[in-house]
Amino acid sequence: MKTMVQDLTLYLGVLRRVGYTMTVGMMKGNEREKLHQLYQFYSKKTNGEDITPEDPYILPKTDVFELLHNDIAKYEGVYECGFGHTTEFELKVISNLVKELQPKTIFEIGTFQGRTTLNLALNSGEDTKIVTLDLPEDNLDEAKYKVEEGEVRYIKKSRSGERFLEHPLRSKITQVFGDSATFDFSPYRKSMDLIFIDGSHAYDYVVNDTLKALEMVRPGGVILWHDYTNWEGVRRALNEFFQGDARFKKLKHIGGTSIALLETK
Ligand SMILES: C[S@@+](CC[C@H](N)C(=O)[O-])C[C@H]1O[C@@H](n2cnc3c(N)ncnc32)[C@H](O)[C@@H]1O
Repeated sequence: MKTMVQDLTLYLGVLRRVGYTMTVGMMKGNEREKLHQLYQFYSKKTNGEDITPEDPYILPKTDVFELLHNDIAKYEGVYECGFGHTTEFELKVISNLVKELQPKTIFEIGTFQGRTTLNLALNSGEDTKIVTLDLPEDNLDEAKYKVEEGEVRYIKKSRSGERFLEHPLRSKITQVFGDSATFDFSPYRKSMDLIFIDGSHAYDYVVNDTLKALEMVRPGGVILWHDYTNWEGVRRALNEFFQGDARFKKLKHIGGTSIALLETK
């Protein structure tokens, strides 16, 4: 009986949420994102990968890097991705960029499982120092700005950086914790060769993280943003920077990915 009541409560709760998303919520970017995620879930797709494939893809994978014999990077967990991760192609693009640029200092905003962090470590030099910042789940309620509802699940996790915590390259990675809006970035001022912005996708956070990245990047360094094409907050913030701030006039969107790139030289 208790279960039936619990199930009914759950049913009504979901019905109310879905009803909101599909009506009034359609006016809001994060609600439209949920609809997109629901569609992906029910069509059993996430980032192009089946979650529970009934008829799994069995063909060996390839991609343009391999076909054109110009893949200079190496990877771990490249195909183990889903919600909250860079896609396999995006990870290959980032890894190849790192291999090419050979940054000595890297800052990532938004660790999650640390899949990208680990691949940054795999493709940079032995002496490269990587710092990755994550918001602890206990700090969510005190975050300065409101994060998007759809990204709370990436914040609420038992372990941050689980993909690299036991890895031999762990020593290249320093984990720091806090809210990017209040975190003290001053020790990293003008010192970062590469910055990867992939924390909260809410507009206020993207603006904040972008301005903080600009303070951290060394002259000539590179800033990458994930999810330019996936989240309204990222798109709006970057469009505004591009159109209204001369420091961003060289901002580009890397075709075939959701990544935006700024070379500061
Ligand atoms: C989409 S995931 C990052 C994925 C990761 N960069 C990757 O490529 O695998 C977003 C991460 O940003 C973190 N985050 C969200 N809001 C944040 C904030 N205000 N400050 C710092 N980290 C934040 C979340 O805890 C989560 O781990």
